[in-house]
This record gives sequence, C-alpha cells and structure tokens, in this order.
Amino acid sequence: MTQAFVPRPLAIAPSILASDFSKLGEEVRSVDAAGADWIHVDVMDGHFVPNISYGPDVIKAMRPHTKKIFDAHLMISPCDPYLEAFAKAGCDHITVHAEAGPHLHRSLQAIRALGKKAGVSLNPATPISALEYVLDLVDLVLVMSVNPGFGGQAFIPSAIAKIRDIRAMTAGRPIDIEVDGGVGHAVAGPLAAAGANAFVAGTSVFKGGTQEAYKTNIAAIRNAALGARGEAI
Ligand code: DX5
Ligand code: ZN
Repeated sequence: MTQAFVPRPLAIAPSILASDFSKLGEEVRSVDAAGADWIHVDVMDGHFVPNISYGPDVIKAMRPHTKKIFDAHLMISPCDPYLEAFAKAGCDHITVHAEAGPHLHRSLQAIRALGKKAGVSLNPATPISALEYVLDLVDLVLVMSVNPGFGGQAFIPSAIAKIRDIRAMTAGRPIDIEVDGGVGHAVAGPLAAAGANAFVAGTSVFKGGTQEAYKTNIAAIRNAALGARGEAI
C-alpha cells in the first residue's frame, strides 16, 4: 500500500555564498535574527564544480555566531576524506552529490557514523533513480535547480516535476526535500506544492544588504510556501 505523504516542517535556508564574505559572522547573525531556519553553507572545490568557495575552517569560524542548523552542501570530489572535518567544524547536515564519486552508499554511512544527518544532492540532469537503493541512509534530498557552482543563476523549471517524483518515492519516510538554485518567492509556492519543505536561497535573501531586507526577503519565501501548503500565514 502507498504511504500517505506527510509534509516535513518548513525551513528557509539562506545561502551564505551570497553574503558579504568580509563580515561572515555578522551576516550569519543577521540572517538568524531575520528568521532563517537553517544556514546553508556551500563548499566548492574547483574540480567537481568550476568555482572555489570555502572549507571547514571558515565554517568553524561562522559556527559560534548562531545556534541554527548548519546545512552543508559539499560540491567536492572526493568527499569522503573531508567528512570528519566538516562534522568537527559544526555542520549538522552534510550533503554530498550523487555524481561526486562511485561510493555514495559509503559516504552516507560515514556521515551517519559521525552522528550527522546525511543528504544526497542531485544535479539537474541526474535521475532520481540514483536515490533508490540508498533511501534507508538518507535524511535529506537536495534537488539542484541550477547547475551547481555559482549563485545568482536562473531557476530550472524541471526541478518541480523532479520534486514531485521524489515526494512519491520518499513517502512515509522522514526525509527532507530541499531545493537549491534560483529560488525566490515567485517559485516557492509551486515548489512547496510539489513537495519541497526546505528552500535554499542566496541572491533572493541577501538582496538589499540589511537585516531588515533579509527579514522581508525570508518572509516573502516563507509566506509563498506556507500559502501553497495551506498553512496559516
Ligand atoms: C549553487 C549553490 C547555491 C547557491 C544558491 O551551486 O549550491 O546554494 O548559493 O544561490 P542562488 O539562490 O543565488 O541561486
Ligand atoms: Zn547549495
């Protein structure tokens, strides 16, 4: 029998990649106060993706500035040699890419063994069948709605149908469905209706550059998602 779909709690996850790197601690405190649920930290290696961002030491330096969940998105290959460093740096969720290596199952086992929530991210071209035999080890699926590597790109609409398919695949399991790339209030509604409960947003949250602006931007995404979920705003 098919299990009923029970929506997971809504989470807005500002991506620190779009913040002012000259004042990371302050930016983390600002988005926390502005209503962020999770802090999304993007790690890029210039090999798996064509850009380099920051690593565990920078995450460790941001960590004391908030008590919110640190949601790490590793766009690195290989990832296994670095998982422990990200766990020690204070990441609560550690998400690896299904395309980053031949041993996804091993990577997820390692993240769970470190006591962290294990996530799998799928590039726009990757079919959801990549998840099929690892579902027992997955706490979160991160659907890329841009090609990873850069902030500020346009949302790829096929992510919506993909999320709908992942919702059917993960029904009855306590798995967060997160979407990342080009997300703002205009697409948050359809994404929530399709089954996404966690929304990464870089450019759309940090535009304006002040805590007041972050608050307005986060609320716009949250309200669009809540409306689509039929929950009170
Ligand atoms: C892209 C990153 C995203 C990025 C999103 O590779 O994974 O998290 O920061 O930025 P926006 O919201 O600007 O597309
Ligand atoms: Zn990301």
